[in-house]
This record gives sequence, structure tokens and C-alpha cells, in this order.
Amino acid sequence: MTPFDFRLPTRIVFGAGRIDELGELTKSLAASRVLVVSDPGVVSAGHTQRGVDALHAAGLQTCVFEGFAENPNTNHVADGVAIAQQFKPNCIIGLGGGSSMDCAKGINFIYSCGGRMQDYWGVGKATSPLLPMIAVPTTAGTGSETQSFALISDAETHVKMACGDKRAAFRIALLDPSLTTTQPSRVTALTGFDALAHAVETAVTKVRTPLSQAFSREAWRHLAPNFLRTISEPDNLEARGEMQLGACLAGLAIENSMLGAAHALANPLTAEYGVTHGDAVALMLPHVVRHNGADPEVEPQYHDLVLATAFDRNTPDQRAGADGLALFLADAAAQAGLATRLQDQGVDFSRLPELAADATKQWTGTFNPVAMSTDDFRRLYEQAY
Ligand SMILES: [Fe+2]
Repeated sequence: MTPFDFRLPTRIVFGAGRIDELGELTKSLAASRVLVVSDPGVVSAGHTQRGVDALHAAGLQTCVFEGFAENPNTNHVADGVAIAQQFKPNCIIGLGGGSSMDCAKGINFIYSCGGRMQDYWGVGKATSPLLPMIAVPTTAGTGSETQSFALISDAETHVKMACGDKRAAFRIALLDPSLTTTQPSRVTALTGFDALAHAVETAVTKVRTPLSQAFSREAWRHLAPNFLRTISEPDNLEARGEMQLGACLAGLAIENSMLGAAHALANPLTAEYGVTHGDAVALMLPHVVRHNGADPEVEPQYHDLVLATAFDRNTPDQRAGADGLALFLADAAAQAGLATRLQDQGVDFSRLPELAADATKQWTGTFNPVAMSTDDFRRLYEQAY
């Protein structure tokens, strides 16, 4: 029996066109002054304005902060806090991809509790309640909308800090798949694969529970058949909705079971070589699945995932277990145009031991179902090379 303590702090509102309800939803949190955190790409796509229009229609005052980029760092968050200190919001909305949602959480930690981002690295470090927050994801990827973690990079060391506190969970996640159709195809591929990786990694972690596994399996069931479909048919709103729902469910799985070795291997590639997270995960996940799947205790967990989509012809062969899953993932990554060989990413072979040492230090790796040594990490980098 696996004990657990499950709560769902986030109301989830799903449906095409529901961005127009953002004003009323925000008002339901007794908000009057709203800081909208949106990266410049989302602002130029017009999504931010649509959200702001809905907020104004409900009589709310707004201020938009867009001074950050992919993988927000401590300097970006500090800039957002300075804006918040002038504007004095009583609600924060993260409208955009994972970067916007993470940046919103980071700003909220410091605006509400003081100090600097490093003070919140770890779990449960908030010192007072945070402002209520709403997530409006415009990608289907990180699942940040249903997690209480903010991933913020240290601007000096480039270390990705996972800052988690139950009080940093969004009060509402507004999932409107029509916001995801304007993404460039590469963003769809990068973020979609990340969501797939979340479903796969969470399904087997050491700390998984029956509930987290239900979220992993259901996330996989929505994501696996639709990942390539959203790339070949970008305007297919049904498929976009499936991906957005799958990414959100995978976020719930992460919240309840953490991640594993593929993310531990991916993070140093991003920090040291600037490999985009989706590419880094695509490079490493198939090798991790094979490595973990060799353990007879873990193999059935992967098989369980494969069986969840056994009747869909776009998903792995149900007879092939972990190997079939690894093949499916590698093939999907290649078809989506994601990175397939580490040597193409400017990574020097002689530096793999150094990267492996970094991977060993990643907190996320401690949840992998199979204990990982520095040698194991090095071998997996070599396999991916
Ligand atoms: Fe990820």
C-alpha cells in the first residue's frame, strides 16, 4: 500500500475561446489590480492583449510585465518585482508558456515574502501567503499551471533552481487551446515532447502513488496519439486541446510524483550548452527508458503506460514493453525535428564526465526508480552522443 495526501489547489477551466472569461474569473478572486506576466513572443502574438481586454471589460486595472525570456533568471524576476512594487497588484496572472508562468510565481515569492529568489530554492520556503495567481498557458508543455514549483535560473551560476511551495500553486488554470495554434511548429515540437517526457518520467518515479500514476497514464493517453498530429495539423483544435489537457495532467503527475533521470541529464545540457529543454529531454529520455526498463520492477510500469494507448495505431507496439516505448519516443522526436544526437549540439565528448558529475547533483535524479551513479549518467550521455 502506498500512502498519499492528495489535494488539488487549482481550479481547471478548459475550452476553446474561454480566454474571454479571464476578467470574470479574476474577479472571482476578489482582485482589482492585476499584474500580467507575459513573454514578448506571447505579447506580439496578441494573446496578452486579448487577456488584458477581458480584464478591462470586467473593470480591472492591469499592468503588463514582459521583460524576460526563455528560462527566466533571477535578474528577470527582480525586474518584475520592481514593476510589482510600483503597481501594487493584488493578483498575478502568468499568461504564456512555462517561462511566463514560472516568472509569475518567482515574482510572487519575492513580492509577497521579500528576500531573493535563492531564499526559496527547495520546498516550502514561503514565509507568508502569496497573492492569488491565475495561469493561462499558451503552450502545451511544462504543466507549470498545475504545479507549485517555479523553475528560475541563477543569473550567475546558470543553475536551475526549483522553488516549490504549496502556496505558489495557481488558484485557477485557464486552458484555452485556441491560444496554442499560433505557436511556431518548433515550439509545438519542443513543448509537446516535454509534456510526453513528463508523463513517462512521472509514471515510474520512486515516489509515485496510485493517484499520480492515474494522472501520468491519463496524460500519456491524451499526449501520445496527438503529439505528431499537432505538428502536421497545427490548426487541429481538437488535437491541440488534447495536448493542452495532457500537459496539464502531466503537471499534476509531477506535483505528486516528481521527475527522473531524463530531466537530471537534460538540465546540465541546457545550463552548459544552451540546449533547449525539449531537445535535451528528447535526446536523453529514450536512453533513460531503456536503462530503467532493464529493471524488472520498473518494466511493468512502462508497460502499463503502453497498454493505455494499445488501441491507437499512432502509439507504441504493446508487445514491445520498455524497448518499444523507447523506440516510439526516439522516432517521435526525430519525426518532430528534435535533436537526436548529442554530438550535433556542440558538446565535446571529453566533457561528458563533467556533465555526468553535474547530472548527479540534480535533485530530480534522486526520484528516478533506479538509483543512478555518475558512471550511469556518463554512459547514458555516451549512448546519446
Ligand atoms: Fe520538462
